[in-house]
Amino acid sequence: MRILVTGKNGQLGKSINKIVNTGNGKNNYQQDNEFIFVGREELDLSNNSSIINYFNNNDKFDVIINCAAYTQVDKAEQEAELANQVNHLAVKQLASIANKQQARLIHISTDYVFDGESDKPYTEIDITNPINVYGKTKLAGEKALQAVMPINAIIIRTSWVYSEYSNNFVSTMLRLGKERDELSVVSDQIGSPTYATDLADAILEIIKSKEFREENQTTQIYHYSNEGEISWHEFAKEIFKIAKIDCKVNPITTQQYPTPAKRPINTIMSVDKIVGIFSLNTPNWKESLIKFRKHEYEK
Ligand SMILES: NC(=O)c1ccc[n+]([C@@H]2O[C@H](COP(=O)([O-])OP(=O)(O)OC[C@H]3O[C@@H](n4cnc5c(N)ncnc54)[C@H](OP(=O)(O)O)[C@@H]3O)[C@@H](O)[C@H]2O)c1
Repeated sequence: MRILVTGKNGQLGKSINKIVNTGNGKNNYQQDNEFIFVGREELDLSNNSSIINYFNNNDKFDVIINCAAYTQVDKAEQEAELANQVNHLAVKQLASIANKQQARLIHISTDYVFDGESDKPYTEIDITNPINVYGKTKLAGEKALQAVMPINAIIIRTSWVYSEYSNNFVSTMLRLGKERDELSVVSDQIGSPTYATDLADAILEIIKSKEFREENQTTQIYHYSNEGEISWHEFAKEIFKIAKIDCKVNPITTQQYPTPAKRPINTIMSVDKIVGIFSLNTPNWKESLIKFRKHEYEK
């Protein structure tokens, strides 16, 4: 299969790239597939003609994995039009191209499509109600994709993604923890961290599965995160414990830490559907944080 991966310089794009380029044995992804990784230099999702040109100038693909997105949650409040173009209109365009090429589309979305008011883990059929611009544009992308591509696509919503690449909550904590003796971190927002390597593994497992290869399947939404729930405050404490960093972490409320974009309070998602259909492994967040530390040392 010819597999296109967008967002090659992002956390998920880089994580997929690393697995594809180091996999061997039964995980030798290069053996039967050709992976093409692209960044905004080759395929700029903020620009319609860049998207058209890219696909006109390249052979057709069997699978498109869209890891690219406008992910700056606070900045999106000021750049709503750009966020909408990348997270919604470009997704619609990718879906239409995938249709024409008879390619499968795997698109990544977010827990921020929910308002966070539920007291139970969100399932794929729960009502969405985003409370910030980023969440609204990602939801618009999901809906446009489903309308254009009622078959042959998968939407995977994930949450609190971190990796050994670029800036994320874990890398920020590791940096600040070394610089300061004390930090204040929000303790009333609950979620499930997701190590990008685990999500990348899951996507590659899905591509290999016979369920994914069956023809003309209805487009589905799935939730994927690491297992377990935690607040940002508890997560920061665990990051310091594992990294043996001596930094006190004080709990603060969301109200005490105002941000331009509102954040949902509780976005724990049920992963039962994706685990059931694709027999995936969803490691506990703590186990994955330890694995992340090991990879970070090796980098
Ligand atoms: N990070 C999280 O906590 C989180 C949580 C839930 C869901 N998600 C979703 O998970 C997916 C992967 O996220 P991630 O953490 O890997 O994000 P990321 O590290 O921010 O990577 C996103 C990538 O998209 C690229 N991009 C942005 N605008 C573009 C444009 N106009 N044209 C082409 N590429 C563009 C960026 O390119 P540059 O490198 O050139 O800027 C970047 O490499 C996204 O769909 C995101 O919405 C993320």
